Amino acid sequence: MKFDKPATTNPIDQLSVVGKSTDRIDGPMKTTGTATYAYEHKDLPGKPAYGYILGAAIAKGRIESINLSDAKSASGVRAVVHYQNCGQLGQGDKNTATLLGGPEIEHYHQAIALVVADTFEQARSAAELIDVTYKTEKGAYDLAEIKDSGANVGDGFWGESDTRIGDFDNAFSSAPVKLDQTYTTPDQSHAMMEPHASIAAWQDEKLTLWTSTQMVDWAQKDVAKTLRVPTANVTINSPYVGGGFGGKLFVRADAIMAALGAKAAGVPVKVFLQRPLIFNNTTHRPATIQRLRMGADRSGNILAIGHESWSGNLKDGSPETAVSQTRLLYRGEHRMTQMRLTELNLPEGNAMRAPGEAVGLMALEIAIDELAEKLDMDPIDFRILNDTQVDPEKPERPFSQRQLVQCMQTGAKRFNWHKRNPKPAQIRDGRWRLGMGMAAAIRGAPVENSGARVRLETDATITVETDMTDIGTGTYTILAQTAAEMMGVSLDKVTVKLGASALPVSCGSGGQWGANSSTAGVYAACVKLREKIAVKLGFNPDEVVFSTSLVTAEGRSLPLQAAAIHQPIEAEDTIEFGDLDKQYAIQTFGAHFVEVGVDTYTAEIRIRRMLAVCAAGRILNPKSARSQVIGGMTMSAGAALMEELSVDTGRGYFVNHDLAEYQVPVHADIPHQEVLFLEETDPMSSPMKAKGVGELGICGVGAAIANAIYNATGVRVRDYPITLDKLL
Ligand code: MOS
Repeated sequence: MKFDKPATTNPIDQLSVVGKSTDRIDGPMKTTGTATYAYEHKDLPGKPAYGYILGAAIAKGRIESINLSDAKSASGVRAVVHYQNCGQLGQGDKNTATLLGGPEIEHYHQAIALVVADTFEQARSAAELIDVTYKTEKGAYDLAEIKDSGANVGDGFWGESDTRIGDFDNAFSSAPVKLDQTYTTPDQSHAMMEPHASIAAWQDEKLTLWTSTQMVDWAQKDVAKTLRVPTANVTINSPYVGGGFGGKLFVRADAIMAALGAKAAGVPVKVFLQRPLIFNNTTHRPATIQRLRMGADRSGNILAIGHESWSGNLKDGSPETAVSQTRLLYRGEHRMTQMRLTELNLPEGNAMRAPGEAVGLMALEIAIDELAEKLDMDPIDFRILNDTQVDPEKPERPFSQRQLVQCMQTGAKRFNWHKRNPKPAQIRDGRWRLGMGMAAAIRGAPVENSGARVRLETDATITVETDMTDIGTGTYTILAQTAAEMMGVSLDKVTVKLGASALPVSCGSGGQWGANSSTAGVYAACVKLREKIAVKLGFNPDEVVFSTSLVTAEGRSLPLQAAAIHQPIEAEDTIEFGDLDKQYAIQTFGAHFVEVGVDTYTAEIRIRRMLAVCAAGRILNPKSARSQVIGGMTMSAGAALMEELSVDTGRGYFVNHDLAEYQVPVHADIPHQEVLFLEETDPMSSPMKAKGVGELGICGVGAAIANAIYNATGVRVRDYPITLDKLL
């Protein structure tokens, strides 16, 4: 089905199943340990052996020698795989550095060998017997030091490198009220609960991988490319994923090394990335340095807005697109944005939850708060005054929906914003200084083509099949809701099968396109199945209604089951998105409100309340959508207050490579969260009229926290994370 015109009324609009708060179908399995994650898969062709990856001990240089004899003769060892004995590997489309290094080393903890043994412990202890000597080369590890060597990144999947509208320099220098500040965000890690993990099994030339991935189709293609085997010879299974956040968009060393190890050992091999490897072997969100310059007239109209961002990555890596939201969020005639990318020899930087906007808004939305203060304006009034209903860089392009003002107004009321004292450091509660802050949020609502197959079984149940993944987001549930709505059955009649390359290719889970695109794919397949069933039952397909397990048209009803008495009836289709997203700016919006307490004596920061108001198209399942948003808010509290990969700028690696030293929020850090969704349906987004919330939830929150801390203390911190030492 092509989606290239605005959606009209369709069966989803009945909202008898879709749009209702619904428990996660996979919830009981996940909470009782019966959902089988990649590493736990049991039904294997043979008893598995265990692989242990040895990561490079330098960040840049060469392996001079590698002595494996002690490792090979250690107890239980079946094989040792390394660059000299596994043939020439190919390079997947999605990886920057190669997944098996040597002799060249591109980053610290790049995989250089895999030991396969009968037990995990044997593999681990044998890996320590591998004797490697390196020749170290000098690398670049400090973004601040080398940022000025950064180059224009050109135009890529991230959009344009630079944009310029009007005459920014002139407008900025002549503006009566000005702000020119620099903000920094550190490298961050996805730190998902389930590590990257894979089991590989070969049967003749065919490889099956049980692996933890967000994108089954990308995984299948990149495994095939890397191993130089036909795509059809690779099977991927990823039915349950314990968190991804972008860190599992791409195949990593666990999958490739498991496949090589299984080939060498002749048995299935299990490999997970031990926690330190997750920090230095896989991807992370790159650090940014961002300069914001804004000028306004005395009534608060933005005249000039400029945002520059610097980030670093391995050779051929991409920039952190921290300026994207600044192109869209506020009006202002004279504008400039630019991204500069410099080569760093740290591990690969790549997408992490709302890549670009998440850290871009952490800077922009402090800057807006600062400028509002200079103007002596309430920060909400200032944002409302500078709202725009068209793309400020391309005024001929309207937003499909933009309820940012409504989000802010609804939130202000709900949060009792009027109680905030605009003068900082005025409110006390015993030893605590209290403050409120807010920020706007914007995040793209991209769509990706997505396929599905839907079947009416002979027992009158519906089966949905697609290679879509559920990374903890609730995909199983919203796909079941979609099929139940379309086919007129109750939710318990629907079975959803996901995460296998044998199933129709979906959009996968990424970029917050998953919910809208994958349900639209199921919608398309259901439209086809409805037609087939109508024809089979002798109804006019244009008039047929599916409801309460009945098919009705022309005043006559038949049980749905009548179409599949002797054999199932199925249909498959792919939703293909046209270019409505070029004609309209299709975005999600939100407003975040935070109250903090800061201890007057120790500067300990405690979040007291958080509120998010979101406008993100139709909300398919308010319960799982809320969970996504509070997950994003929590992650953003981590980004604002705790998370920072500490770079050893001498040796070129992330020092705090475990969950003891890389701090993330726990329950006690997040006392109260509320999420409101505004009524919205977006006919430009898909037949579902939905968008996505998984990444919107993390956008803006960090700045709202920073602004609340300023309001509480009068100390403006522009360098994340805001740890208490920066307040003293
Ligand atoms: Mo997302 S960072 O595209 O998984």
